[in-house]
Amino acid sequence: AIEQTFSIIKPNAMKKNAIGDIISMFEANGLKIAAAKVTILSKSKAEEFYAEHKERPFFGELVSFMTSGPVTIMCLQGENAVAKNREIMGATDPKKAAVGTVRAKFGDNVGENAVHGSDSTASAARELALFFEKHEICNV
Ligand code: CMP
Repeated sequence: AIEQTFSIIKPNAMKKNAIGDIISMFEANGLKIAAAKVTILSKSKAEEFYAEHKERPFFGELVSFMTSGPVTIMCLQGENAVAKNREIMGATDPKKAAVGTVRAKFGDNVGENAVHGSDSTASAARELALFFEKHEICNV
């Protein structure tokens, strides 16, 4: 089915001038950009976004990294978009990510892993609603 999923290009990949390269990988794999914005996450927004991780030892580090510079937030749309995006990104830890995936190419370590992608259609709906108004997402 056609799905929408939420994607973030994280601050470390932004510093590498990799927006174009990463979006090209999404587009080459059949995903379309239905919404996109370059922005800086506030601490409270990042904490809300990552609320499920708030008891983890790396939570503070995760929030400080994600608010350390600009990010690109996007809605990706396409057939099976949630799973397809996760395939294109590769494993969370760049050291374990398959060759040719975004995290293998642009990730530095498990925290600074270049991109975020929703892990389910339910997460995608929650995450998209956190960052975009309904009218900001186009049916592409
Ligand atoms: P993301 O998909 O954005 O969702 C949660 C993030 O937590 C994950 O990507 C990683 O970047 C980060 N993360 C997971 N494990 C660790 C860890 N051990 N240390 C630091 N960050 C981590």
